[in-house]
Amino acid sequence: MGQIRIVTGDITRLKVDAIVNAANSSLLGGGGVDGAIHQAAGPRLLEYCRSLGGCPTGEARITLAFDLPAQWVIHTVGPVWQGGDRGEPELLRACYDNSFRLALENRIGSIAFPAISTGVYGYPKALAVELAIDVMRCHVDAFETIIACCFSRADADRYRINCPECLLDDGVH
Ligand code: AR6
Repeated sequence: MGQIRIVTGDITRLKVDAIVNAANSSLLGGGGVDGAIHQAAGPRLLEYCRSLGGCPTGEARITLAFDLPAQWVIHTVGPVWQGGDRGEPELLRACYDNSFRLALENRIGSIAFPAISTGVYGYPKALAVELAIDVMRCHVDAFETIIACCFSRADADRYRINCPECLLDDGVH
């Protein structure tokens, strides 16, 4: 039986089997968590990503993690929030489901997710976090540890409200 942990901190510092990147469809880097991951992984990540030819919204791709403490990076492309009736919830759910599928195929035991789409892409945080916890609960038995990585205490509180049984970690492991 796996566990869901809520960790506050920088996802690039997590020593897990895989971290998930909230990328854009070019897979060629950007700002936010994507920029931080490319910065910490080093230029070989970008070089490798160039060979992938992009990724449609809702899908995911896996790469090595190069200079990161994690072993793998799963890149997924969240939806841009356009009011909620353009398939955003289904696409966001697909991001998590497809990331979990790739993780399973690669025998990954521990995986950390940022709050996909809740930064530049503008998905309302309360809705995104509720959905994220719901999908994580569906997959928890297939993994040792699923981490919801939050960049702020306020975000961690949002996860906590949706997941009272989740373990809370205040710091980077
Ligand atoms: N560790 C953990 N979480 C982080 C980190 C970090 N180092 N940095 C930011 N966050 P965003 P999106 C949180 O904007 O909304 C990029 O330019 C942040 O607080 O990174 O999916 C891509 O290239 C927020 O809660 O991703 C795309 O163009 C969450 O990560 C676009 O942004 C996601 O914010 C994707 O936008």
